[in-house]
Amino acid sequence: MFSSMSRCPMAAAAARAVMRAVRVSEFGGPEVLRLRADVPIPAPKDTQVLIKVHACGVNPVETYIRSGNYARKPALPYTPGSDVAGVIESVGERVTAFKKGDRVFTSATLSGGYADYAVAEADTVFPLSDKLNFSQGAAVAIPYFTAYRALFLKGRAKAGESVLIHGASGGVGIAACQIARAYGLKVLGTAGTEEGMNIVLRNGAHQAFNHREANYLDKIKEYTKMQGVNIIIEMLSNVNLAADLHLLSHAGRVMVVGCRGSIEINPRETMNKESSIIGVGRFLETEEERRQCAQVVLEGIEAGWLKPVVGPEYPLQEVARAHEDIIHSSGARGKMVLLP
Ligand SMILES: NC(=O)c1ccc[n+]([C@@H]2O[C@H](COP(=O)([O-])OP(=O)(O)OC[C@H]3O[C@@H](n4cnc5c(N)ncnc54)[C@H](OP(=O)(O)O)[C@@H]3O)[C@@H](O)[C@H]2O)c1
Repeated sequence: MFSSMSRCPMAAAAARAVMRAVRVSEFGGPEVLRLRADVPIPAPKDTQVLIKVHACGVNPVETYIRSGNYARKPALPYTPGSDVAGVIESVGERVTAFKKGDRVFTSATLSGGYADYAVAEADTVFPLSDKLNFSQGAAVAIPYFTAYRALFLKGRAKAGESVLIHGASGGVGIAACQIARAYGLKVLGTAGTEEGMNIVLRNGAHQAFNHREANYLDKIKEYTKMQGVNIIIEMLSNVNLAADLHLLSHAGRVMVVGCRGSIEINPRETMNKESSIIGVGRFLETEEERRQCAQVVLEGIEAGWLKPVVGPEYPLQEVARAHEDIIHSSGARGKMVLLP
């Protein structure tokens, strides 16, 4: 005997219009990430697109937001995730740049990327080259846009300058290594494991150092012949900022990209070299800056120097483990990705 739902086509369609998505209904530890199978598939409004998600990058900030200890808090319940790569499923009435079936990646979703489908504004969506698979596509937007912003839009890096990427083995770090090398900088990178150092060296760094080694700061100073570096892209400022000020050359800049707490520094250390400490907030990008970052990234993919390195991949149902692992990492090996 058939159920009344299976006999009614409209009811069956309505029943099908749900998807799996991770929902957060209260702030807390990784256990608040709940995979639901009954979340309505969002409909794209006039300037929006609906993307069938094939991969979604995991960013550390998503763990800070989930914990409730972050300055920006979404309204509950919500679905985390921004860095989606996938295929256009449908488009809003005013969208002309994309059509069903296009491979794309996006830097921001409106409905959340840890899901089977996600809605995004079309102007935050970009074509995904056949040169990259979906996991690599999910490793592009936030890491590379942040790295380019830190190096050039805020750090004013120039060819011939030196840069220390302090934490180069993760998503943003590898992006920074590749971009800095492509733009003619001398690139030094750090990682916490041998494997991480090798990844850093394969992705543009001229020299790699281990930030878990007791004397690695001395090794960096020796490598620069005590001249220091022009720029530091800092992934863990609460640990390294005071030491960074001793690694800079005259008029050097520390770009604060990652920070998980406070640190005491002596401001006097900035005076003798006229050095700067500059915060980087990718979420503050203007439309023009986003276009600029996208152009650099799309050109880099076509030219072949921009190749995201994908690290651990997790099925959507293991999202809590992914959040545990990204914060308590024993050594990054590229970008962490969720696969719906
Ligand atoms: N400001 C912004 O707009 C913005 C945008 C994106 C990301 N972020 C932040 O930037 C940071 C990096 O993001 P991600 O996506 O690259 O994270 P990720 O993939 O988890 O990588 C973290 C990196 O930090 C390194 N690290 C660990 N201990 C370190 C230490 N003592 N000194 C220096 N580096 C250390 C790790 O190296 P090992 O694992 O090899 O030890 C790894 O390279 C995070 O804090 C994130 O929240 C900020």
